[in-house]
Amino acid sequence: MTAQIIPVDPFDYIIFGGTGDLAKRKLLPALYHRDHDGQLPDEARLIGASRSKHSDKAYRKFAEDALREFVPDDQIDEDTLKRFLARLHYLSLDVTDDDGWDELKKLLGDEDRIRAFYLAVGPNLFGPISEALEKHGLTDTRSRLVIEKPLGRDLESAQALNREVGAHFDEEQVFRIDHYLGKETVQNLLALRFANALFEPLWNNAHIDHVQITVAETVGVGDRAEYYDKAGAMRDMVQNHLMQLLCLVAMEPPANGDADSIRDEKLKVLRSLAPIDADNVGSSTVRAQYRAGAGPEGKVDGYLDELGHESDTATFVAIKAEVENWRWSGVPFYLRTGKRMAERMSEIVISFKPVPHAIFGKDAGTPISNQLVLRLQPDESVKQWIMIKDPGPGGMRLKHVPLDMSFAQTFDGRSPDAYERLLLDVIRGNQTLFMRRDEVEAAWAWIDPIFDAWDETNHPVATYTAGTWGPSQSIALIERDSRTWNDGTR
Ligand code: BG6
Repeated sequence: MTAQIIPVDPFDYIIFGGTGDLAKRKLLPALYHRDHDGQLPDEARLIGASRSKHSDKAYRKFAEDALREFVPDDQIDEDTLKRFLARLHYLSLDVTDDDGWDELKKLLGDEDRIRAFYLAVGPNLFGPISEALEKHGLTDTRSRLVIEKPLGRDLESAQALNREVGAHFDEEQVFRIDHYLGKETVQNLLALRFANALFEPLWNNAHIDHVQITVAETVGVGDRAEYYDKAGAMRDMVQNHLMQLLCLVAMEPPANGDADSIRDEKLKVLRSLAPIDADNVGSSTVRAQYRAGAGPEGKVDGYLDELGHESDTATFVAIKAEVENWRWSGVPFYLRTGKRMAERMSEIVISFKPVPHAIFGKDAGTPISNQLVLRLQPDESVKQWIMIKDPGPGGMRLKHVPLDMSFAQTFDGRSPDAYERLLLDVIRGNQTLFMRRDEVEAAWAWIDPIFDAWDETNHPVATYTAGTWGPSQSIALIERDSRTWNDGTR
């Protein structure tokens, strides 16, 4: 059955930072794809705003170049491109100044449309822009504000940011993007858990041995070194993407699919995480930095060479987390993420407990515990690993095989980028895949003490060679519990 494509309501998307990297790589391509799929109504407009001076024509040229660079050639349809570019406008605006806002107001007119303000700018501007939008009469109840990390660097700064934005927009109007929530497999996790009767009875500490969440990247920090050195793997990836994935695995079934029902359940998980402090930081965490080694492009520099100065920022973090509630007591959640690792591979592995009693003889082989592997990237798939009898003669020999649902093989068509879904959910006013204020703050409330404990105990920053699966300490973290990381082999 093909889905029926229904255009969203008429809207204006105003992208502050309209000539920046995010607009170029992600936002414009995402909206182009949705235009091609027939989801943008005729009236939809996109307004790029930034300090530099450009005409509409120059901005359209900028967008066309970006699309030709970031959309694969075979997905460029010249008719769509023409239609899409005609939707674009540009406004030169210094957001720290009082001038220019009236022009934006004039451009927006007084038509009854949804206005989505996407702040693809530094977080220091979130407050000032929100304030200016309200002050210049550019907002109403149909306006939305879209912001993205870094949403603070600790609990205090996150609260301050939320307060600044919250002074001008209601929480129902604020869309905090975590692009991992827009990924197909991540949404599929909700479908698997709550649209099948099969998994839920097993989804607890009676049947699950442990969970692993890995987001491994082969890229280094490249030209983002300045930002990255202040963030590190913990703020860049763990506080948001990995913790959101953990929440979706661990949350209780919500009463319904409403945004707040789901976010209430995620919040409870965040609040149930066992604290990591000076007493257990040594046994529960590993932080490390890559040294020169191999990347997909050949020999690559170490982090400090890329950065050009000393730093103890971690480019790799592994954490053993525990969700202290009835369902998950005793089930560790092993999280790890790093730059310059052996493979680009993100996955969630649910490892079930072994069978309680062996009935097959030695020759059959030992049953391997079942695993459900949700692969987010590069090749999206869901695999349920089970034991079967190796077919053919030879008696009972057990074989470990996947019930494999690789998306590319099962479904036709391209796999949409996370931003496509998220950008239009903003227009639809659907906040399910966006982080609520209290969720962001609860995540920081768990992360902050880990930083404190690292400082307090002088927790070492280990090293690993670029192109490997991280430092030996990470292997030790999980092997101490007689378990092993799933290094992409399943
Ligand atoms: C971003 C981080 O949020 O996610 C980057 O800032 C990281 O450092 C990126 O590379 C990974 O996203 P994806 O979708 O490529 O896995």
